[in-house]
Amino acid sequence: MTAVSTPAASPWVVLKFGGTSVSSVANWSNVALVLRARLAEGLRPVVVHSALSGITDRLEQLLTLALSGEWQPVMDQIEQRHRDLARDLGVVPTPDLEEQFRRLRQIASGIALVGEVSERLRARVMAQGELMATRLGAAYLASQGLNVQWVDARTALKAESRRNANLRSTYLSATCAFEPDLQLQQRWSAPGTVWITQGFIASDDAGDTVLLGRGGSDTSGSYFAAKLQARRLEIWTDVPGMFSANPRAVPTARLLCALEYDEAQEIASSGAKVLHPRCIMPVKHYGIPLYVYATQTPNLEGTVITTHGGTAAQVKAVTIKKNITLLSMETVGMWHSVGFLADAFAVFKEHGLSIDLVSTSETSVTVSLDPAANTLDKATLDGLIADLAKLCRVQVIGPCAAVSLVGRNIRAILHRLGDALELFEEQKIYLVTQAANDLNITFVIDEAQGDRLVSRLHEIAIRKMTADRVLGPTWEELYGSPGQAIDTSKQWWHVRRDALLALGREHGAAFVYDRASLEEKAKSLQALSGIDGVFYALKANWHPEILKLFHAHGLGFECVSQGEVQHVLNTLPTIDRKQILFTPNFTPRDEYAWALEQGVWVTLDNLHPLQHWPELFKGRDVFVRIDTGYGRGHHDKVRTAGVHSKFGVPLFEMDELQRLVNAAGARVVGLHAHTGSGVFTVDNWTSVGETLGALTQRFNEVHTIDLGGGLGVPERLGQPGVVLSEFDAALLQIKQAHPHINLWIEPGRYLVAEAGVLLASVTQLKGKGEVQYVGVATGMNSLIRPALYGAHHEILNLTRIDEPATEVVNVVGPICESGDQLGLDRLLPPTQAGDVLLIATAGAYGRAMSSTYNLREPAKEFVI
Ligand code: LLP
Repeated sequence: MTAVSTPAASPWVVLKFGGTSVSSVANWSNVALVLRARLAEGLRPVVVHSALSGITDRLEQLLTLALSGEWQPVMDQIEQRHRDLARDLGVVPTPDLEEQFRRLRQIASGIALVGEVSERLRARVMAQGELMATRLGAAYLASQGLNVQWVDARTALKAESRRNANLRSTYLSATCAFEPDLQLQQRWSAPGTVWITQGFIASDDAGDTVLLGRGGSDTSGSYFAAKLQARRLEIWTDVPGMFSANPRAVPTARLLCALEYDEAQEIASSGAKVLHPRCIMPVKHYGIPLYVYATQTPNLEGTVITTHGGTAAQVKAVTIKKNITLLSMETVGMWHSVGFLADAFAVFKEHGLSIDLVSTSETSVTVSLDPAANTLDKATLDGLIADLAKLCRVQVIGPCAAVSLVGRNIRAILHRLGDALELFEEQKIYLVTQAANDLNITFVIDEAQGDRLVSRLHEIAIRKMTADRVLGPTWEELYGSPGQAIDTSKQWWHVRRDALLALGREHGAAFVYDRASLEEKAKSLQALSGIDGVFYALKANWHPEILKLFHAHGLGFECVSQGEVQHVLNTLPTIDRKQILFTPNFTPRDEYAWALEQGVWVTLDNLHPLQHWPELFKGRDVFVRIDTGYGRGHHDKVRTAGVHSKFGVPLFEMDELQRLVNAAGARVVGLHAHTGSGVFTVDNWTSVGETLGALTQRFNEVHTIDLGGGLGVPERLGQPGVVLSEFDAALLQIKQAHPHINLWIEPGRYLVAEAGVLLASVTQLKGKGEVQYVGVATGMNSLIRPALYGAHHEILNLTRIDEPATEVVNVVGPICESGDQLGLDRLLPPTQAGDVLLIATAGAYGRAMSSTYNLREPAKEFVI
């Protein structure tokens, strides 16, 4: 018997490669490179790899199609994929691989004949993906001069027998024991050898093939690492580590350089797809460090997961799980009653459903069902609801998203999350849970809002933190800016780049508005079928050319001051006065008197004018601005409803309003509300419509409801905005409920923000150690939004739009305030004095809010 070489003498390293990692020649040459490096380190490498990407799905299709006998085309595809890769890798498919193809065909025709697939057979067929791929991998590595041994994983990983498990989970989501395995260590001890085996598969006591569940290859890697007591487990995938958010959705997501096992497990379980949550436990049990690397970029640092992840309390990731169904169960009987929860949960058990999150009150309990853990078809759900309905009132809410903030001791840092939590003023939160292990706080909200919320929470809770041992570079920094990743070539400012560069160079600073974009926006709102009037809120931008253009497209105007009304009358002298709505706030008596004389629509937004100047309103038709009680918007400074906002007449004053209107001899013909600005949730306008609609019962001379403006515009390239068709559907619903009432809206930002940019030429550059400043010709005197609201405007170097963005800089203006920043930590190409920077979405509340602070004129305006 050969002596067992001790792991310490020549330890193993287990390297697991995912489907994408083993599907291309470029990746395989990196795999070979990495293996050579591990051998040079004196380690014994064990490669565990997955099926080629997409093949497991194809095998599943094969099983389904075999039942109807139509499996040939899919089988051809499966075979071709492997032959193609073999050709690209320069290897000949081995006889074992040819044999496997033949066997698969035999099985498929067998299924066609018998007309059924057992779970046992399903496992056997699905296992072929890994078996075939590793044959190719072994052949390639051997062709590269490595000493390779191919091993069937089923000879090394044995499934545990589980009590009460059904056939499906026995064969398709088995678990294995992972104690140190001296026999295996002995078998795989030959020095200088690369062992290559399959992920995802194992065998049971009877020698049958079993699977470890989808994503189970990570778990195989972890089992092997534990059995071999490996020096480390390396998971090679298509991202270089775990990130603080999904980098494809949030480009500012940061590489998490160091994590603790529990944190990694929590991040993986709450939606991140980099690691399978089940793979953590075996390595954690033996304290084996787990590294995550990207096969495409093997030199990037990656994530290391150990017992000591690093810093104290900190939010480390914002994750999202979608397609969550919530069930809210309410019963008055629950109050102090014994056993309701037990009874209700028993119903879930009977239906084979596993509950994810739970929140209870004295009379209700809300639970979430995660599709990853449950098959939630309609029949299952209906059956569950029918049984629950015997115990309580059930409401199904969905689809929802569960957004989690993850990190150790999260309770200790709740106070630091103040800004982040403010975002929830805009969201309907159905459920909040804080995990008992103090590793996460989860909010369940409407699914449509999920991605946006993740990116905002990430911005506040993580992106701004200074880099440390845990928080590494952002995805953008590693792979380039989203401006590069996202095709900007269709943006109007890209198309009209030459004209913009000329203006930027000539004027140093310039607001430029694109006529075609303005027209397109106006048309898109006029095309909404649920709306009878669009009144442009010209506070966003009152450039006369823009007013003329919108007027030509049939838009009316919403004004907040005598100045604005007068400006419209001056610009459009022949305008129908009923195309102007005057919606002032705390405006003096004279302005009301003047506006009434002009014959424009006048809105009251408190009771004072009726109480103190009733004579003004005698015989007049007026609108009243209602405070719906709930403000929305991108920042607390722009939320315009609720007790903390100075706008509108509160609902509790309706009796008094009615009395005063009658006493003054006026008529309320319009009801108005505007909850805030920069709103993305369509239900905002639905609930305003419901509130105002209900008031038409009381004020029965009302012919118009104005739902306000506020439609949000994406701040970042590639970020989703309000979906107009959803907005229209919401409007139509209100319209259907009140068919005789005119519906108006009064957006500002939506019509002009994206049609305008601010150009600013670079005047000078400055470096202060790590922080680089790019100084431009104008700053907060032209665009105050970043300083005032922390608003984000994309910034691009228009001069070098096609060059890779590689430098992180702060873009600042010439104003004597530290807050004079147009953008912090922006990724730009190496920038020179004289370059023209473009600051996007500056058409709304840009020039309109500008000033001559420091006696610096704001940028001039141009319409092109
Ligand atoms: N209607 C009323 C009564 C308003 O007060 C406003 C904006 C609007 C309509 C138009 O809202 P929009 O569709 O543009 O969101 N300076 C802030 C925005 C303040 C908006 C004030 N009222 C910003 O730059 O974000």
